[in-house]
Amino acid sequence: MQQNAEIMTPFGIEIDLETGAMPKATNHIKRNASDMRGYYQDADALERLIAAADPLHYEVFEHPVPEVPGHLMYCISKLYPGTVGRECFMTKGHYHTISETAEIYLCLRGEGQMVMKTAAGRFDAKPMRRGMMVYVPPLWAHRSVNTGNEPLVSFCVYPADAGHNYGDIEVEGFPSRVFLIDGEVVIR
Ligand code: PA5
Ligand code: NI
Repeated sequence: MQQNAEIMTPFGIEIDLETGAMPKATNHIKRNASDMRGYYQDADALERLIAAADPLHYEVFEHPVPEVPGHLMYCISKLYPGTVGRECFMTKGHYHTISETAEIYLCLRGEGQMVMKTAAGRFDAKPMRRGMMVYVPPLWAHRSVNTGNEPLVSFCVYPADAGHNYGDIEVEGFPSRVFLIDGEVVIR
């Protein structure tokens, strides 16, 4: 058998399947409302939210592995509930830098949608709730959206060398947004 990759010692870590807590995580990414300028339809509503409290929007906990082919990166994504105007809290969303790489999201808690688009303009959305696995195929940009009233917690796995490309989504946006209107989830 040919072996190019360095031999790594196997490991196991604990993940609380209810809260998403990963005590051994060493990378902690936090995005507050003020990190989300330009992403929501109602920019004034976002500014009001920032002025009032600039709430924590979402966090990602990672226990990194080498970012080289063959390894699998994994993390917990925790997106808090709330709305900007009537638009549900969401992640920035991204393509992978190596766009031909997929991702698995296993939802552990909460309710939401995974919205996805391709560069050619296809759009899809899949519901997320505890026990749902969403497969994001290669070439699909992806964003999670919290439509419930508790944190939307997912366990994500993707090729460790995939990388995150935010720039294209900043420019293109997604063709549809997710709103809560009179208690109903509306994607339009
Ligand atoms: O790799 C992923 O797709 C997730 O871990 C996301 O990075 C996480 O949900 C945060 O979203 P974003 O990277 O779009 O800000
Ligand atoms: Ni991703």
